[in-house]
Amino acid sequence: MARSINIYPTENSKISQVDFDNIPFGQVFSDHMFVADYIDGEWQNAEIKELAPFMVHPGNLAWHYGQSIFEGMKATAMADGTPLLMRPEKHIERLNASASRMCMPNFPEELFLEAIDKLVWLDRAWIPKEKGSALYIRPLLIAMDDALGVRPSETYKLLIFTLPVGPYYDKPVSLLAEDTYVRAAQGGVGEAKTAGNYAASLQPAKIAKEKGYDQIMWMDAKEFKYIQEVGTMNIFFVIDGKVVTPRLSGTILKGITRDSVIHILKSEGYEVIEKDLHIDEVVDAHKNGTLQEIFGTGTAAVVANVHKFAYENHDYDVDVDTYKISPLLKKYIEELRAGEREDKFGWIKMLGAEVLA
Ligand code: COI
Repeated sequence: MARSINIYPTENSKISQVDFDNIPFGQVFSDHMFVADYIDGEWQNAEIKELAPFMVHPGNLAWHYGQSIFEGMKATAMADGTPLLMRPEKHIERLNASASRMCMPNFPEELFLEAIDKLVWLDRAWIPKEKGSALYIRPLLIAMDDALGVRPSETYKLLIFTLPVGPYYDKPVSLLAEDTYVRAAQGGVGEAKTAGNYAASLQPAKIAKEKGYDQIMWMDAKEFKYIQEVGTMNIFFVIDGKVVTPRLSGTILKGITRDSVIHILKSEGYEVIEKDLHIDEVVDAHKNGTLQEIFGTGTAAVVANVHKFAYENHDYDVDVDTYKISPLLKKYIEELRAGEREDKFGWIKMLGAEVLA
């Protein structure tokens, strides 16, 4: 296909209606969206236009059989307003890995990166200035065939739209170690960022909330003993000065913030251990006073403190006021994202007017 993106800027910006001091996560959408169609075996009709609803047939395959995947990434701005992206190439890599697992076509990496650059540049006025806030970017790939039958769709749509957001969690969270439901088993789709994984978490998360916990801490599907991740983020523990996190076993999401955090920690001299993490090890560490911190990482959550987890009807509290590593990471990432810290990993991409050329 011709890889050019047609751009139709809106004449009806909604930005004046937004209270940037009070942005609930996920509810305020910026002006434009990128759309491309997969038809006759190729991606075509790439355009950026005003964000608007579009028609979907009742027989849409994504709705019935779940061919739906997405990504989450963020744009931030330097003090002078220059928009910044962090590791955008990791997101198209993961989107395509999810696509392959869900039997969907891959999306061209270059076109994806160009679409993000142009979309963010066009809506750069929507990037919140406040540290910890950002323009959340949501790429979505869905099946578009109108037909019933469990088979891969032949047509697809890729959409990318953006939302100004504040922090996903504005206070430390509590977790319930799940002992009935599972998020993913070996060989399943746990590593794919697919809609069904999130739908499957809703009922257990509702039950956890009714019991007084903010989120679920998923355990492995076989023994319910090995910690996996939280419904909205990957998880880290600091035990006796070492940072421990579940290894990527095929059942948990390959978090890009998780990966960034591991790189940052190692470069700051911390020991990071990725392994099959038995819950007894964390409980024992709590009992013998060596459990120092628990925090989650994710695009939306960035770095979020956990103040309590529950396992087998016991609550285990951790004093977030004593946390050192989690605040260091949060500050590090926020400063990187504001262009205020040396980008020694080469993760930051600055955007300028040339992206529209
Ligand atoms: C993200 O972290 O970007 C996600 O997709 C998770 C969701 C809780 C917003």
